[in-house]
Amino acid sequence: MSTSQFLLSYSLLIIAIIALLTYWITRKFVLKKMNRTILKAEHNYQQQIANLQMQLSGKVNMLESMVEKLRLSNQELNRLNDIRSKFMSIAAHDLRQPLSAIQGFTSVLMMDRNTTANAAGGTSDQTALNNILKATDNMNMLMADLIDISRIESGQFSMDKQPFSFNALLADVMALQNVGAQKKGIYLQKCDYPTDVMVVADRFRISQVINNLLGNAIKFSPQGGRIEARFYVDNGQLTFQLTDNGPGVIHSEKEKIFQKFHQSDVDRTAKKQGWGLGLSIAQEIIEAHGGEIGVESAGLGQGSTFWFTLPLN
Ligand SMILES: Nc1ncnc2c1ncn2[C@@H]1O[C@H](COP(=O)(O)OP(=O)(O)OP(=O)(O)O)[C@@H](O)[C@H]1O
Ligand SMILES: [Mg+2]
Repeated sequence: MSTSQFLLSYSLLIIAIIALLTYWITRKFVLKKMNRTILKAEHNYQQQIANLQMQLSGKVNMLESMVEKLRLSNQELNRLNDIRSKFMSIAAHDLRQPLSAIQGFTSVLMMDRNTTANAAGGTSDQTALNNILKATDNMNMLMADLIDISRIESGQFSMDKQPFSFNALLADVMALQNVGAQKKGIYLQKCDYPTDVMVVADRFRISQVINNLLGNAIKFSPQGGRIEARFYVDNGQLTFQLTDNGPGVIHSEKEKIFQKFHQSDVDRTAKKQGWGLGLSIAQEIIEAHGGEIGVESAGLGQGSTFWFTLPLN
């Protein structure tokens, strides 16, 4: 081998060694570092994607709750629209009916006055006057209920709380309602209850509640029915209960009958003698006193017990 061939082989060997060394160093340090950088970048991306997914699901939740709120306000709007149309139908029908009755019976009276047969004032005079009185009573009751409802809706339904005897109030209301009860042969019974119970409340409004409960019990009970009123004081609170043997209230209606204008189908004739406002107003009154109101019934035909509570102080 010549010197030049030896030098060439030697240089090739050196170059091969350097190439191997470079490959080894690159693998050991540079590639590893690059791998690490790539892994880190991948991890960062994954984290960013997870963050974006979280933000997205937050936005989806927000959208879902906004859709739910919209659905609820839509429901409320429908309910208010329903109330508005019922107000309209009451104004159009229930107020015009007693008005035309008053008009009709007044003209009967005027005609009777002009006929000699009835000049001294006979039974038709009396009937016409009774009917006029009934029609104006109905109108007055409806107007009072509508005024209460509009006060409740506008947040101006305030209570004038004064101390008074609950026993005396109950006696007054029962005496008043007994007239209607007797007409249907219904026995109104006062059960044993404590004497001299004083409450601080709006006397007129509490009597309105008891009048409606008692009026309902008489209206919905059958001829010859029985109604029992009782109350007791326990734990600084008065509980009043009124039990009747009327048609009762089915489970699914127990809360609904306290909504404005809601009347169940238990008795279509009795239902016509009202507007479904009494219990909703009673609930507003009792809640404004910090009490509760409700009904218990074993079901249709099983009678019902309407009750309310009143804190004593
Ligand atoms: N004692 C009862 N027994 C059975 N159902 C009752 C009784 N009291 C009330 N209800 C039911 O609850 C409904 C609502 O009663 P609420 O007193 O609000 O209205 P109303 O008596 O029909 O009319 P209003 O009180 O406005 O003159 C009644 O129409 C009836 O369907
Ligand atoms: Mg009523």
